[in-house]
Amino acid sequence: MAPEKVVVIGATGSQGGAVVKELLKYPECYQLRALTRNPAKPAAQALAKLGVELYCADLTSGPDVLASAFSGADVVFALTDFWQTQSTDDEIAQGKAIADAAAQTPTLKNLIWSALPDPVKLSGGLFLNVHHWKGKSLVTEYIQASKPELWAKTTTILFPNYFENCLTTPDRYLPAKDASGVYTLTFPHSPGTVMPNVAIADTGKLVRTILEGGSQYFEKTIAFYSQSLSEADKLATIGQRYNIPTCYQKSSSSEFQSLLQSRDGLSEEIALDFAEQLMIFEKCGNVYANEAFIQAAEIPGLKLKTWAEFLDECELPLKGLK
Ligand SMILES: NC(=O)c1ccc[n+]([C@@H]2O[C@H](COP(=O)([O-])OP(=O)(O)OC[C@H]3O[C@@H](n4cnc5c(N)ncnc54)[C@H](OP(=O)(O)O)[C@@H]3O)[C@@H](O)[C@H]2O)c1
Repeated sequence: MAPEKVVVIGATGSQGGAVVKELLKYPECYQLRALTRNPAKPAAQALAKLGVELYCADLTSGPDVLASAFSGADVVFALTDFWQTQSTDDEIAQGKAIADAAAQTPTLKNLIWSALPDPVKLSGGLFLNVHHWKGKSLVTEYIQASKPELWAKTTTILFPNYFENCLTTPDRYLPAKDASGVYTLTFPHSPGTVMPNVAIADTGKLVRTILEGGSQYFEKTIAFYSQSLSEADKLATIGQRYNIPTCYQKSSSSEFQSLLQSRDGLSEEIALDFAEQLMIFEKCGNVYANEAFIQAAEIPGLKLKTWAEFLDECELPLKGLK
């Protein structure tokens, strides 16, 4: 049988890159096409060297351009990157264009849409400003309501949350050393508040499980996390690993929002978005552990990295280590 043609959006980034890396191990099963805005960039060129076909397209170009990018595809792995534009309207337009193009692709067998839950519904209307979740959830609703055949016959939704945030955004996710040598992490969570966590590098394994699962994951949402962990617990493990004294400091939500603005340079609106996202877990518990979602950690045969295993494999950029 000819290999399945897999189009990966975000192939030069974390999630899509993990999908490409895993599927490349099975050249007899999968043939990869990476969508990128810039085929000349080093990450795209590295994929080309591995035999991945590069397809130059921008998600803002609309459904016709994307339908050409998806031409002949058996599988589309799709995401939108909120952080590029920080605009819900832009993210929704991109997501709808992906769905429209996917619906115009007669060969398509799997659409895997990496999204996030509806923050308003899951929080019972408590949090109204989590735009980077809301736009993705509206795209999911669009697929379900306006593309019933695409939804029923191809689509699987993923909700991730990465361990790797501590590598890409260390100032926010790793403790800082204070004058007395203690590594302090500030978060707006009580020490016992848990969040879903996964190595985003494991996205490829999950995607392969979905593709091998036939129709069993159509119309399903997968809460993609290996462990529910509190930031305080993650910090304690870091302390043991690196043999450093640590301190977990709970801030208020508004203090944390101010920190995101002053330390990380976020706008007031985006800092509120980010802080409210965290507060969902404080006020509503681990909303990914909902029986409406398949729990990735319970999928037979899918081995996902734990936090301890993730730490074994990476060097954290902790400042001031001897
Ligand atoms: N961090 C988390 O814990 C977490 C959890 C859940 C969801 N998310 C979501 O994950 C998304 C980001 O995914 P990521 O972390 O894999 O991204 P990433 O590593 O920052 O890479 C971004 C990717 O998106 C592509 N891209 C961005 N804008 C594009 C456009 N207009 N047209 C075509 N491609 C575009 C880029 O491709 P080129 O530059 O090559 O064109 C690149 O491959 C965000 O929407 C975020 O909300 C993150």
